[in-house]
Amino acid sequence: MKLNIPDNIAAITPYPPGKPIDELEREYGITGSIKLASNENPWGPSPAVVNALQEELSGLNRYPDGSCYYLTKAIARKLGVDPAEIILGNGSNEVIEFLVKAFVREGDEVVTSHPSFLMYQKIVQVRGGVNRVVPLSGMKHDLEVIYDTISEKTRLVFLDNPNNPTGTVIDPVHLREFLSKVPESVIVVLDEAYVDYMDEASRIIPQTLVRHRKGCCPVVLLRTFSKAYGLPGLRVGYGVMNTEVAACLHKVRQPFNVNRMAQVGALAALEDEALQSLFDLAHELGMDVLMEVHDEQEMRRALKTGARLIGINNRNLRNFDTSLETTLSMQGMVGENHILVTESGIHTKDDVQLMRDNGVNAFLVGEAFMRADDPGEKLAELFF
Ligand SMILES: Cc1ncc(COP(=O)(O)O)c(C=O)c1O
Repeated sequence: MKLNIPDNIAAITPYPPGKPIDELEREYGITGSIKLASNENPWGPSPAVVNALQEELSGLNRYPDGSCYYLTKAIARKLGVDPAEIILGNGSNEVIEFLVKAFVREGDEVVTSHPSFLMYQKIVQVRGGVNRVVPLSGMKHDLEVIYDTISEKTRLVFLDNPNNPTGTVIDPVHLREFLSKVPESVIVVLDEAYVDYMDEASRIIPQTLVRHRKGCCPVVLLRTFSKAYGLPGLRVGYGVMNTEVAACLHKVRQPFNVNRMAQVGALAALEDEALQSLFDLAHELGMDVLMEVHDEQEMRRALKTGARLIGINNRNLRNFDTSLETTLSMQGMVGENHILVTESGIHTKDDVQLMRDNGVNAFLVGEAFMRADDPGEKLAELFF
């Protein structure tokens, strides 16, 4: 075989993947080892994500949504940016690739630190770009030397914040000073794979940086579901950037770059997170949350959140009739640890028995009862 391997590819050392943990334990005759190399979340994904993924399995005969519509919208809502300012990738790694593909020509320069996340330099090498590597100073990005290293040929600067592997963060004031000096033609990429582990005070408010600021360099933020969300196996990450940069990245991405499971899992993680904060607040106040659902779709959503108390509103919103069938059709969807409350529609002892037989644990006693002359007596008629 006579392969004609380009010099830039021949020079690349592949990313060291590490052995599967079972294999390693067998080789060394050890047990109980813990893999630290990939900075994985040892707690695993949330149960709401696992539920959502299980439900999605039967849809695998369909291609994913190429626009990642729902996930993009949910991320935009969380960060307070526009969906057009977000690009999703097969891991944030893929967004790094898009950036290099879209902006680095052969011979163009990219500035990174050493040590920092390995993939920046490898991707630049694949593209035939030139890596200008600046040593960390005191385990931190040396913004002054990085600034001095920027030349006419520089297209991108990668700063992982916090840095992998040192865990140090850039002081927000120094960062702003640095960004105010960088030429407009250079894109500064702030890789925030570990942003969830940072103090609130050191975090950057995305919309203030990524929107085009007159005369300033564009800034791209990278984030991932691989670390704090515990979903590296799904491969989903994203970049937040001004719409002009985003439009360029859309040109170089494949149409279905984020798979179905990744979209569903990441969306469930965000919904879970949003609801979790509501649940946390309620629990702090010593309260529980009753989630109200009207149909099977809403029930599925409630279940994905891990809600325990679910109220079925079985009133038809057109004619206000109540239908016990609605309750029964959804009852089969819940597990043993849920407490199901149904809206009214219970008029006879048989209705009560039917609900009990089907695992509905509580009824909502509404107006009709309360308006009766003797509500207690009316209720007692049903139960005894
Ligand atoms: C700084 C940094 N950026 C990006 C990544 C890649 O993340 P993803 O799994 O989203 O591709 C990692 C993973 O280790 C990382 O440490």
